Amino acid sequence: MGTTLNRDANAPAFDAALLAGLQHLKEHYQYRTRRVKEAAEGPEIEVEGRRYIDFSSNDYLGLSGDPRVVTAFRRGLGRYGAGAGASHLVSGHCQPHHALELELAAFTDRPRALLFSTGYLANLGIASALFRRNDTVIQDRANHASLVDAAIFARARLVRYPNRNIGTLERLLSKGRGGRTYVVTDAVFSMDGGLAPLVKIAALCARHEAVLVVDDAHGFGVLGADGAGALNQLGLGLGEAPILMATCGKALGVFGAFVAGSEPLIETLIQRARSYIYTTAIPPAMAEAVRESLALLRREGWRRTHLQTLIKHFRAGARRLGVKLGDSHTPIQPIVLGHSRTTLGVAALLRRNGYYVVAFRPPTVPKGTARLRITLTANHTPAHIDGLLAALTEIPCAVS
Ligand SMILES: Cc1ncc(COP(=O)(O)O)c(C=O)c1O
Repeated sequence: MGTTLNRDANAPAFDAALLAGLQHLKEHYQYRTRRVKEAAEGPEIEVEGRRYIDFSSNDYLGLSGDPRVVTAFRRGLGRYGAGAGASHLVSGHCQPHHALELELAAFTDRPRALLFSTGYLANLGIASALFRRNDTVIQDRANHASLVDAAIFARARLVRYPNRNIGTLERLLSKGRGGRTYVVTDAVFSMDGGLAPLVKIAALCARHEAVLVVDDAHGFGVLGADGAGALNQLGLGLGEAPILMATCGKALGVFGAFVAGSEPLIETLIQRARSYIYTTAIPPAMAEAVRESLALLRREGWRRTHLQTLIKHFRAGARRLGVKLGDSHTPIQPIVLGHSRTTLGVAALLRRNGYYVVAFRPPTVPKGTARLRITLTANHTPAHIDGLLAALTEIPCAVS
């Protein structure tokens, strides 16, 4: 009884502390809000009663709404029901999961692949299965939060180098340390669309006997022959890049993620990756949708060709009109505006003109580099891009 009374008495103070924290976020323009998406069709989305041309989606190849993917999902639902019912190691590992793993392994030219429920969980899984406390995990400073969190959760020694700074990476690798050394990098940096110097990183890893972990969340499906990803594009096989992670929720347009690598790597993940073992498998119907999407991704090269045309169109148009441009040749095109308040204001102006572009602010991006993260997808046409660029030219701080 006494305990309950105390807890009640503390609750207002606890809420007051939370409110103070939220107020702090608001005052620093870091407060995040969710808008409710009511429909999505091709390049258009409906958000809270208004339709926009969507420049915020990672559905790079426009596969999410493809009728064949949707039909595969429906077929799977009829056959397997809505959920897997259990984790993979209990009784949730279904035929579509298994078939998808085989297909992903073949596509990435790795002996095996293992499905995870999300990319975040895949990165945690790699860390929980492999990183030990006396290991050193060296990461690019611009890596996705899930990679940083993974190293922290595993309580490994985390060291970071400035974005793409090979000189610093080499210096860090030269320092003798106990345990194993892992070098972990995004292949395509999610906030600026730039590519990691993977060939150089792989060579350094070979020279210093470090293990390379590559997160190709934004390259898979977009880069490489038939969309097999950044490693494929650069000719980096299992020997150079033994641990590849990619997601099924971006270019594949569905949900889930996978790690591809050697037989012993995948068996180790199955035995030890806590975020694999202790979570429900993705719905098997969803795996059926990913399988269909993967088949289309491989077969319909026009999606990648169209996307490349759009990227060139965007960059040429932005240059011509004086719209600020990042150094990216991928579908992620950032416009760095600096201040969070300014960036939020520009995103709001674009929405007023019918374009849905999201403002990314610290701590997701470094302080002073708040930006619009424009993503192009195969659903867009050059006319959509021209419209967005015209809207941007009306906003003084978006032009250089
Ligand atoms: C580079 C990178 N890795 C991992 C993830 C996490 O993937 P998921 O959304 O499937 O959890 C994301 C994005 O969400 C990402 O951008």
